[in-house]
Amino acid sequence: MKNLIILCIFCLVLVGSTCQGASGSTKRTKKEKKQITVTVLYDNYVFAKGLKSDWGFSCLVTGTEKNILFDTGMKGELLLYNIGKLGVEPKDVEIVVISHSHRDHFGGLLSFLGKNSDVLVYLPVSCPETFVRKVKQMGARVVTADAPIAICKGVHLTGQMGHRIIEQSMIVDTAEGSVVVTGCSRPGIVEIVRKAKSILPKDIYLVFGGFHLLGKSEPEIKNIIKEFKRFGVKKVGPTHCTGDTAIGLFKQAYGSDFVKMGVGRVLKIQAISK
Ligand SMILES: [Fe+2]
Repeated sequence: MKNLIILCIFCLVLVGSTCQGASGSTKRTKKEKKQITVTVLYDNYVFAKGLKSDWGFSCLVTGTEKNILFDTGMKGELLLYNIGKLGVEPKDVEIVVISHSHRDHFGGLLSFLGKNSDVLVYLPVSCPETFVRKVKQMGARVVTADAPIAICKGVHLTGQMGHRIIEQSMIVDTAEGSVVVTGCSRPGIVEIVRKAKSILPKDIYLVFGGFHLLGKSEPEIKNIIKEFKRFGVKKVGPTHCTGDTAIGLFKQAYGSDFVKMGVGRVLKIQAISK
């Protein structure tokens, strides 16, 4: 009888410690989820040593409900090289968003799908049917959305914007405000910011990606910066096709709120705790 009581006490202690371990690990997971991480995988500029740059853009957003790969750069080989160097696991990606049908944004997609095709791919409506078929043949599920859409909790797409070159941008809801991610901003960066604010009506914490201001004059760029300030955009990370002059002017205007981008840049943003 005495032995039975000792055995029961031992079992209770064991069960208690197991439960504690499980809840401890849940707490850790919740803590990790409190930050949203943006990692630049493909860009015209290099931020961290040992990575390669090229004309194009791609970044990974994690810490949101789903892990999202936004754009895939021009060359699959180079995307996978940077992904490998940055220790990113392709299998962890759950959603892929392609901003527009230009090779410097979708060129690496098929190579990426070769590593992980168990993803939902948001392609622009303007994407050629032959390419959509190839993506499906790789095993990926495809969504083309014309209007604004929530792709997971707290993450929206603007829906198709522009006339000649159709493009979609992404808006991530964070505790600091919304974060707007752009591919090339062909419909106009100010228009995208305006649309983002109408979809998620809160302060804009950060806008980053390609702003497409290469052909703009200095006064035109300064007017765009004024619009950014008017919209209350707190931080900016112009890169890719923005152009060096515009990047310099944004840097001058935003000072310590200018975020230098490039391959290997990792940004941590506080997530909304729910
Ligand atoms: Fe581009």
